[in-house]
Amino acid sequence: MRFLRLLTTSLLAPITCLAAPLVSDDDLVLRDDLIYKRENLCSLKSPPQLCQPNSSVTPEETALRAYKFYRAFVVDGDPRTMFSLIDSSYIQHHAGYQSGPQAIWSLFCNGNKIGSEASTAWCFVPSTNMSYARYSTTDRWRWVDGCVHEHWDSNERIPTTGCAKLPTATAAPKL
Ligand SMILES: *[C@@H]1O[C@H](CO)[C@@H](O)[C@H](O)[C@H]1NC(C)=O
Ligand SMILES: *[C@@H]1O[C@H](CO)[C@@H](O)[C@H](O)[C@H]1NC(C)=O
Repeated sequence: MRFLRLLTTSLLAPITCLAAPLVSDDDLVLRDDLIYKRENLCSLKSPPQLCQPNSSVTPEETALRAYKFYRAFVVDGDPRTMFSLIDSSYIQHHAGYQSGPQAIWSLFCNGNKIGSEASTAWCFVPSTNMSYARYSTTDRWRWVDGCVHEHWDSNERIPTTGCAKLPTATAAPKL
């Protein structure tokens, strides 16, 4: 992804100099304009923060949120950010799981990384408000009022058209 390569070269180069003695690049996570290490939050019984639906969130903002959600879930192992983008409904279409974020908290609280950005893929389609993440399988989520609201993972495919492109400006560090 050109977007991420730009981000990596422009941002991580100076930061690596500062942070290298303390943490490896692999543990660095970009979130907003800050860097976080992955977190294991399994000492918490519930997600620390859920998404508050907000009807003013624009499609452009939702696309960026969808990218952050994919990063947090697949690449970074950042359950705090991941669940901060899920609403309290989280309507579940995976058999055997109840709806609601609590039902999946124990699966993701440990901050496991699933794959690298290079080996996985994501997409947000503004015309349907669906986002997708492909790793060993493909998930699909519907976004409502800026939050992940509904989930499917049966025979999903990342669309070949209609995926939002993130403006590189939003990736620029605001230091
Ligand atoms: C709702 O979203 C809009 C657009 O991003 C933002 O300006 C506003 O502060 C948000 N409201 C709340 C209560 O977070
Ligand atoms: C997608 O979400 C926007 C708000 O971001 C809403 O205006 C629009 O109607 C939604 N589109 C669909 C197909 O649900």
